[in-house]
Formats: sequence, structure tokens, C-alpha cells
Amino acid sequence: MDDIVIVGSGHAGFQLASALRQQGRDGRIVLIGDEPHLPYQRPPLSKDYLKGPMLPEDLRFWSEKQFSDKAIERVAGVRVTAIDRRDGAVVLSDGSRVGFGHLVLATGTRNRVLSLPGSDLDGILGLRTVDDAAAIRAGLEEAQSVVVIGGGFIGLEIAATVALSGRPVTVVETTGRVMGRAVCEAVSRHHERVLAALGVAFRFHAGVTRCLGDDGHVRAVELADGDVLAADLIIVGIGVLPNDDLAAAAGLAVDDGVLVDAGLATADPRIFAIGDCARHPSLHATAPVRIESVQNAADQARLVAARLAGKPTEPYGAVPWFWSHQGDLKLQIAGLAHGADETVLRGAPEDGAFSAFRYRAGRLVAVESVGRPADHMVARRLVGGGIALSPAEAADEGFDLKAHAMRPQPA
Ligand code: APR
Repeated sequence: MDDIVIVGSGHAGFQLASALRQQGRDGRIVLIGDEPHLPYQRPPLSKDYLKGPMLPEDLRFWSEKQFSDKAIERVAGVRVTAIDRRDGAVVLSDGSRVGFGHLVLATGTRNRVLSLPGSDLDGILGLRTVDDAAAIRAGLEEAQSVVVIGGGFIGLEIAATVALSGRPVTVVETTGRVMGRAVCEAVSRHHERVLAALGVAFRFHAGVTRCLGDDGHVRAVELADGDVLAADLIIVGIGVLPNDDLAAAAGLAVDDGVLVDAGLATADPRIFAIGDCARHPSLHATAPVRIESVQNAADQARLVAARLAGKPTEPYGAVPWFWSHQGDLKLQIAGLAHGADETVLRGAPEDGAFSAFRYRAGRLVAVESVGRPADHMVARRLVGGGIALSPAEAADEGFDLKAHAMRPQPA
């Protein structure tokens, strides 16, 4: 019996099912997801979807018919509650069991939630699913004033949309700058300036102590310094946690994510983990990483599909890349900047477009580009190929980056 069961029908799970057929894998494939919907794209949810008039159908990867044409079985609206490794089966929330020869965990992440007095009032919303996005869109139609808690990608994308619609919006951020987990100081400050010009207010080094409401609906938030901000809609974007509890309960190693090897397998050779829930060794980092991105989900899905289709594969080594669109700001990131100790800019933030080249111990590890898509494409090649580029060359606008990246490299 070599049925393939995939747990999670987000980007990673869907891409795996589709890539398995593309790679010629026959046999039973079962895609199990707890959302009732057909698999869909998530990135538009925090961007165009909030502006309307997009429909959930517009985000779908495939129709029902495409799944049946490819003989991919879908189990939707049902959770996997346990993995029975002894018998090679998953147990579902409706009590049924599905046997597997190989199991792939593509369980993704869940939102961290606010847990403080008043945080259960209506009008306090997070964003993960298309249903969440629909609730936020409906809330935005009514809202007079909005507070966004968390100045990460999600918070800023939504704040930009609210500001563009002419409503007051304040971002409350615990640290001293936006997107601190993802980008350098120069990129943070540039985004802060541009978003402030759009009308977004910022409160840094700020924590929410409680939410205040009437008739069960939120009306304001109180900050740690005692200030009270009016808000009849609160969006919470304070990061995510990996869904690794199924793996842990089944005795597989987890550490802020399901631990896998460079081939994305757990210690049980029948079980893999891919996408946002997996922590894997990386050529691009000094310690195993868990990467939250569409690119990573898709590339890991393709690698596991190739393995399960019996094709030869290399260890996972794709260059990580990310993007975020906030109003007119188009941020693209190639590589991982963890531990970067030197940063140089190419172009000037005042001109509205620039890239930050990040180095660790003299090696280029990441490039953050604002409104410079050509730099980003070259950066993927430079970082991915480990191509040497000095900080002086990176900062010199007269130095032809593309030609440099295309030049044959010494073996
Ligand atoms: N109050 C205010 N700010 C907070 C709090 C809090 N209680 N807790 C965390 N924060 C801030 C963090 O300092 C950080 O700046 O919230 C921000 C969260 O940013 P991310 O961790 O990047 O998470 P988020 O923006 O929620 O994105 C979640 O969606 O688009 C993807 O790549 C994104 O995978 C990520 C996920």
C-alpha cells in the first residue's frame, strides 16, 4: 500500500498534490484540509481582496472538476486529530481513518492571538483564511477608526489599505520599528515614512493592555502608557505559530516546527513535512530554519513530489524569497538576513526606490528591494549562486549587477 496522504490544503499541500501528478506519480492521493473551501491562494487576502469586489472563487487554484480529473481525493472541512504510526493511518475528527504509505504534513501555521481583558469582544479580527478576509472586509465597510496590532507584513498591508480608503488607522507595535523580524532599519524607516504620509499613525514600544467595548463590540484599546485609542475595528497581526502538535503527539521531533532533514523527511522515513510548519537545514542559514513564504511552500512541495515519484533529488536549497505590497510600496526580499552584520544601500530611500544588501561575515546573504524589481531578480541569482559581490560593488550604481551575476563563476 503506497497511498499518499497530505494533511493541510494550503499552498504547500495543494502544490504537492498537483506536482505529484505532474511528475507522473500514480495511485491514491488524498488531500485533507480543515477549511471547507477548495484550495486557494492566500497572498491576495491581505491586499486586493480587502478592497473588493473579489470573490472566493477568484482565488481558487483548481475547480472541483480539475481535482477529479487528476484523481486527487479531497477531504474538506475535517481535521486530522492523530497520526497512528503503528498502523500507518491518520485519524479524522469525524472518527474515520485514512491509511497511508507516505504521509506529508503541510499543516502550516496558526495566528498568535491576543489574550487580554476584552480581547473576546466583537470587532477584533485576525487574518488567515478567506473567511477571515471576508469578515475584515465587512468590518471595514462600517468602521470609523481602525487599530492594527502588530507592524509586520500583515499589519502594514492592511493598514495601507485602510489609510487609502480615507479612514484613520493606527499601528501599535511592541518593538521600535516595523517589520523588524524581516528587514533592516533603513527599509523599516522608509516604510514607516511612506505609510505615515498615507495617513497611518504609529505607536512604537507600545503594548495593548485591554480592549474596551459596549454592547459586546470593541470601541477602544488602552495602551500600557494609559493612552486610549478609539477603534471600532481591531486587526491583530502579531505573528504565527507552527502547527506541529500532530507530529509531536506522534512522537516526531519538533522545535518551533516539525524537524526534517535536507530531503524534508522526518525521522520516520514515511513521513515528510513541508511549508510553513517545517524546520529544515538550509544552505542559506547557519541553523535549521522555518520559512513562512509561498515560494518555500511551492519549492518544498516540488521536491517531495519528485522524491515520491521516484526521481533523483538534490537536498533542499532553493533561495528563499518574499514580498509584501503596502499601498504603492513594493517590497521584495531575497535570502535570509539572520545574523547580518553589514548593510549597504544601492539607490537612495529619498528617491523612493532602493535596495539594501545584507552581509554576514563578508558574504552576501540577503537583499531587500523597495520598488526595484530588477535588483530583486539579480539578488536571487547572486544569493542563490553564492556569487561574491563586495559591499562597494553593491553600493555603486555604476557597477553592472546583472552582468556580474550572469558571468560564469569559478568552480
Ligand atoms: N502588540 C503589538 N505588536 C506585537 C505584539 C503585541 N502584543 N506581539 C507581536 N507584535 C509585533 C511584532 O513585533 C512584529 O513586528 O507584531 C509583528 C508581527 O509580525 P510578523 O511576525 O511578521 O507576523 P505577521 O505580520 O502577523 O505575519 C504573519 O503572514 O504574510 C505572512 O510572512 C508573514 O508568515 C507571516 C504571517
